[in-house]
Order: sequence, then structure tokens, then C-alpha cells
Amino acid sequence: SDIEKGTYPHYMLKEMDEQPTVIRKIIQAYESETGDLTIDADILQALQDADRLYIIAAGTSYHAGLIGKQYFEKMAGIPVEVHISSEFGYNMPLLSEKPLFIFITQSGETADSRQVLVKIKELGYPTLTVTNVPGSTLSREADHTLLLHAGPEIAVASTKAYVAQVAVLAVAAYVTAKANGQGVEFDLKQELAIAANGIQTIIDSKDVLEDIAEDYLKIARNAFFIGRNIDFCVSLEGALKLKEISYIQAEGFAGGELKHGTIALIEEGTPVFALVTQEAVSLNIRGNVKEVAARGAYPCIIAMAGVDEDGDRLVIPQVNELLTPLVSVVPLQLISYYAALHRRCDVDKPRNLAKSVTVE
Ligand code: AGP
Repeated sequence: SDIEKGTYPHYMLKEMDEQPTVIRKIIQAYESETGDLTIDADILQALQDADRLYIIAAGTSYHAGLIGKQYFEKMAGIPVEVHISSEFGYNMPLLSEKPLFIFITQSGETADSRQVLVKIKELGYPTLTVTNVPGSTLSREADHTLLLHAGPEIAVASTKAYVAQVAVLAVAAYVTAKANGQGVEFDLKQELAIAANGIQTIIDSKDVLEDIAEDYLKIARNAFFIGRNIDFCVSLEGALKLKEISYIQAEGFAGGELKHGTIALIEEGTPVFALVTQEAVSLNIRGNVKEVAARGAYPCIIAMAGVDEDGDRLVIPQVNELLTPLVSVVPLQLISYYAALHRRCDVDKPRNLAKSVTVE
């Protein structure tokens, strides 16, 4: 490849390290001359015209879409549905009167997502692609494109593109909210800069994540990731990362849902990673951790400063409540990376996987 690893043993490690820089690049790319965050006028118009957004994506990009839903609903007050592209194409839900379709795809080449785009264009609805690759198929074929500015992502396991997707969706939702006169009470530019610094703090203490991976996953056959609210969305991504590169069976779960069946899988020593970043549900998720601990699980609480408690295994820097996914995903990426290294897995090229899936 013409993209150099430099002194890095793996692209994935390099790409995780680039995440603070990616956020800073996004701030620059979406900054107007007056220093405010902005998006193209025609994209803003399309977002303002829509009565509902339909986010279509696969894998990690789908997980970013789940966060995007929170942003558009909470900041801009626009209802959002998020769909897995391979499902949507063959089982289309009822549509609203003025839908806007948003395709989230790092590569811009995912066949499952493209077949939805083709169908939606036939139906004549407006389309927007959020992608890392200018000139990619889904970018060319959609009406509009928002770029991720993450730089080429080589490792099969997506890391910096996810963080870029979440950040760009935040920008789009924020700009739409402002344009609609919605009361967003924070300066997103500043909050993104704080999040970039937060990620850097975690990157600078990688050793801690290597220890956690060794402690929790060295002999594990399976693992659970739990969270509530926005932390649930991130737990799905944490589980996918671990599965892809370490081949440890993992599941992301809504903390409160475990007791409805899945808790039967908890045995002595089962690792359960719990994210605690949302004040409104922090006591609830801590209660869920107690439930699994009582059944022998080995819980690892990753909490954000401000909602942390004694005994939490990792405390991550405090950021705006909506932006926690940018920071909370990073320890999960690193834990997966080190778990895969311990098992001597091919981190950058996991078995059975391709970087972009160009078949349906
Ligand atoms: C991410 O780690 C995966 N390799 C995979 O889920 C990926 O996100 C998915 O295939 C979608 O790819 P895209 O973003 O390029 O469309």
C-alpha cells in the first residue's frame, strides 16, 4: 500500500492514534470564515426540508448511524429511523411524506447500501452520502455528500472512520438545529476540541488498556458489553470490534435487557464491560452491573469522570454528554486490539473479512 505504517506494527494502531487529529480536521473542514460550524447550503436545505431522516448503513457505519439518530432527534428535533442496508432493501418500511435518505459508508462502495440507494433514487427521494472517500460510488450516485476527512482507513476494523462519522453527524445535526432556531446551548466546536483532547488522554495511556485486555480477555471464550441510552449504541460497536479481530464471541446489550434472557449466559468469570457516561441512567446501569456480578461475572466499569465511582476500572475524561461516544469507544477499540494481539490474530486483516463488502 502507498499509505505507510511508519513505525507502527499495525494500521489499526496507527488509525486509532490518528483519532484526535481526525476530529481537529473535521472542525477545520466544517468551519466557515466567521469561525462557525457550517455545511453546504443545499445539504442544510435538504435536512431542513425533510420531515424524517432514514439512515441506511452496515456494520460499524450502522452503529454510527444509531448515534446520529440521537443527534438529529435531540439537537434538531427531526425524527430519525436507522436501518441495516441489507434488510431495508428487501423489507422497506412505510415512508414519511418528505423523507431524506442518509447513507453512512466509510468506503462508499458497500453493495448492500448501494442497492438501497439505487432503489431510493428510482423512487425519486433526495439522498445524502456520508463517506470517507470522495468520488466513491455512493458519493457519486447520491444528490449530496458529506466527507469524513479521516484519511485512508486501511485496517479492516474501522476505528477512526467511526469517530469521524459520529463527529460529522454531530456537526450536521448541530448546524441544522441552529438554522432552525433550536436551542442548542453549547458550542459544538469547543466541545469537539475537548473530545479530541479526551481521546488523546486515553491514547496516551494505552498500557492501561493492554492490562485490561490481558486481565479480562486472555482466556475468555465470550464477553458482554453493556450500556444504556447512547452507551448501548457504543456497546454494540465495542462488541463488533472484539469479534472482528480477536474472534472472541461478544455481544452488546442494553443493560436493562440482559435480565430478560441473556443473563442466563453469565458464568463465573464472564467478562462484562459496562459503559457509564450518562448521568440520567448511571444508577440503572450500575444496578445492572450488580445483577451480573451477583451471578459471577467479572465486570469492568468504564465510567466518565463526573459519573465515576470508587472501584471503576477505568475513568475516561469528561466531555459533553452527547459526544461521549467519541471518547468511550476508544478504550473498547484498544481493548479489542490488545486482546487480538495476545491471541496472535492478524489484527489488520482478520479472517473471512474484506475492507469493503462489494457483494450483496
Ligand atoms: C467495521 O469494522 C467493519 N469492518 C464493517 O462492519 C464495516 O463497517 C461495514 O462493512 C460497512 O462498511 P462501509 O462503512 O465502508 O460501508
